[in-house]
Order: sequence, then structure tokens, then C-alpha cells
Amino acid sequence: MSVTEVSQKYRTTHSYPGALYLLPSDEDEKERLAHQHQLYKTLFGGRVIFPNIVFPPNAEVLDLGTGSATWLVDCRSLLPESVQLYGMDIESKLFPAYSVTPANTHYSIGSVTNLPSYWSSKFTLVNQRLLILALSKDEWRKDISEIYRVLKDGGYAQFTEIDSNWISGPKTVEYVKFLNDFLEAKNLDLQCCDHIPELMANAGFVDIHTEEVIVKIGKWAGQLGEEARNASIGALRGMKGPVMKAGGMGFARTPEEFDQKMDEVADEWDRTEGSYRKLKVFYGMKCQ
Ligand SMILES: C[S@@+](CC[C@H](N)C(=O)[O-])C[C@H]1O[C@@H](n2cnc3c(N)ncnc32)[C@H](O)[C@@H]1O
Repeated sequence: MSVTEVSQKYRTTHSYPGALYLLPSDEDEKERLAHQHQLYKTLFGGRVIFPNIVFPPNAEVLDLGTGSATWLVDCRSLLPESVQLYGMDIESKLFPAYSVTPANTHYSIGSVTNLPSYWSSKFTLVNQRLLILALSKDEWRKDISEIYRVLKDGGYAQFTEIDSNWISGPKTVEYVKFLNDFLEAKNLDLQCCDHIPELMANAGFVDIHTEEVIVKIGKWAGQLGEEARNASIGALRGMKGPVMKAGGMGFARTPEEFDQKMDEVADEWDRTEGSYRKLKVFYGMKCQ
């Protein structure tokens, strides 16, 4: 198959120069992110803001890698209308339509590695969720120092990421080994959860906390288990284009084989009681 044939066959992705992000930006992804947001919210007992923040009436809140802005929209419902909300992403395809965007909400295109210079010391809260398939180690460092820069003194950053450990059966072990190799070849950091607290401390954050929940995956865990399976397998299936463009990396020779392997992994989660991953939230304050 030629490179052109391969690229026409797969889902729409971002077109931001230099960005490493692997997942698609299309309607199916929008739906997956909406379900995933509800799942994560439920698992964390309905919480979307983790640090204990008193928002002044003119506070400004930033959501980086906002995607379809599910977090930002929920956050807005908790805050006074005078609070200004900003969502930034390398790709605008998932942004809510302009016609349903309230006056206090602003979306823009840009990368977390290079935030506008005029945003220095602006935000009371910066949220960033699920950039695990997007940033190299160096970019994580840049990202966290940029977030520190754009926070007000006493403002908080919160990061939500999924842990790289995946507990299930042999198909999952085989997949995770491949994923590690694939992401390493792409210069992405599957172990970002292990590095975020240290990167935060190095950037100057204080009062750093970590919270985590177990995400049970598979039919055996009831409706939430099925939601978790769909969210996870949907993300893994979304990487089919990049994996096949990289020649399958010894994991799948054809797109059909890739699909079959994903079916087998999802089936293993359904059948293996005790399959789980951990979801982690890290937050910390810009030193006053
Ligand atoms: C898995 S989605 C998560 C979306 C949203 N944060 C959520 O939790 O529903 C990751 C998002 O990060 C965006 N992204 C990837 N690399 C980025 C970068 N360097 N700067 C800003 N956004 C980025 C993608 O376009 C995508 O919308």
C-alpha cells in the first residue's frame, strides 16, 4: 500500500505543525470524549475542580488540550458568569459550535508548549487532561513551566492522566509492550504520570497533591466497566492510522489484523475479572 493510500484510509487527525498527537479529531472522537468525561467525573465522585480554590469574581480559567471542552463546560456551570473561561487546543475541529458558546468562553488554537506571552500571571486555575498521547518528555517540561508562567501567584494547575500500568491478561501484556515500543519510537511519554509531580516541583509548584482512582475495565465490572472499556479501546483503535503508517511495528501487518487484535484485547478485559487501570489527578499551587 502506498503512503497516499494509507493516509486516505484513516480517520481525520490534527494538522498542527510539529505536534506529536496520535488520536483523531472527528465526530466519533467527540462522542468518545463526552462519555469518558462523564465516566471520569463519576469515578471522582462528581468533582471536576480538585484544589480548594476561592475564585474572585473576575477570575480566569484555562483548559489546555480542551478538545470538545467537556471539562470547561462543566466547570463553567460551577462558577459565576463573571469568570472568563479559555480553551486552547492544537485543533479546532472538536470545539463546541460558536452558536452555543457563551460570551464568557473563548477558544483558541495553540500548543501547550508555547502559550501566548501576554498570558503571563493571568489564570486562577489551569486544567489539562489526557495529553499522554501528545507530548515528549521535553515537551512535558516546557508545558508545565509554561503553565506556571501563566498562573497568577497562588493560582493552581491540575493535571489528569491515565497510568501506564494496565492489569489484565496476556493479550493486554502483549499490547502494552507494543504500545511502549511504539510511543518510544514516536518520542512520547507513556509514563508521564510518574514524572508529573517532579516536573511540577522543578517548575516551582508547591502544595503538590496526587489523587487516584481505580478504573475497573470490562463487562465484569458492570456499566462503568463497559464505559471504561469503550473509552480505552476507542482510544487504542484511534491509533490505527499512525500505527499502520509506521508499518505496524511488528504488532499488526494489516489494518484488519490491528482491528482483530483490538477486539481480542477488549474481549480479554470483559472476561478477566480484576482488569483495571489507575486514573490520577495531580495539582499544585504557584508559589505566592
Ligand atoms: C485525549 S484528548 C483530551 C481532550 C480533553 N482534554 C478531555 O479530557 O476531554 C487530547 C487533546 O489534546 C489536544 N492536543 C494534543 N497535543 C496538543 C498540544 N501540543 N497542545 C495543545 N493541545 C494538544 C488534542 O488535539 C486533543 O484535543
